[in-house]
Amino acid sequence: MQAYWEKRFESEEKIWGDKPSNSVYKAISLFNQNHLNRILVPGAGYGRNTKELSKHFHVDGIEISSHAIRLAQEFDSTTTFIHDSVLDLKLDEQYEGIYCYNLLHLFMQEERHLIVDNCKKALKDNGIAFFTVFSDKDHNNKQGLEVEPGTYEYKQDKIAHFFTEQDLRDHFVHFKIVDCGELKEQLSYHNQSHTFIELRYIVVRANNSIYIE
Ligand SMILES: C[S@@+](CC[C@H](N)C(=O)[O-])C[C@H]1O[C@@H](n2cnc3c(N)ncnc32)[C@H](O)[C@@H]1O
Repeated sequence: MQAYWEKRFESEEKIWGDKPSNSVYKAISLFNQNHLNRILVPGAGYGRNTKELSKHFHVDGIEISSHAIRLAQEFDSTTTFIHDSVLDLKLDEQYEGIYCYNLLHLFMQEERHLIVDNCKKALKDNGIAFFTVFSDKDHNNKQGLEVEPGTYEYKQDKIAHFFTEQDLRDHFVHFKIVDCGELKEQLSYHNQSHTFIELRYIVVRANNSIYIE
């Protein structure tokens, strides 16, 4: 996984251009309404979303690709970028909010659950997390070899899990689910090509009275 992203950021640099995902504005309004300030962004890439978030909040980004981190430090000098894996998070503090755009679907089932658990540990009690993932309605669903139920090797060396709404909710049973919905986004690549992707989002609140094994 790390080698895949390192290679992509090296050859394509700011892969999805300078503009953030539209979902970031939804997250900003949600975090503002709830008076949050310390925000964690797992899988921050080269900082196109943190750059918008850090205009409003104190933001830390976690990223596995050192090349992406170098790009991010140039592009968004306000955010602190941490070179680490979301599978093995060693954080010194807890956050009031998490914004995690299109990371979770890149992993197999066991790792997806580990990431959700790690994010729960990184959130303060009552903290809010906003995740987006590929939807089962996306055009790439069911392309290539099915490596696990709902997970396909849809491109060479790249798997993705395509979430139904129930599946997404099931990943967050240890949280209080606040909202769950669908988003359609246009991805604009650095080479001027475009594609539409179908996503699902979920907004959850950490509630430490919900027991985790
Ligand atoms: C689909 S990209 C999304 C990037 C960013 N959220 C954006 O929208 O611009 C997924 C990102 O997650 C990073 N990533 C993959 N595995 C990771 C891991 N185990 N820990 C931290 N980051 C990871 C990749 O390097 C890549 O930057």
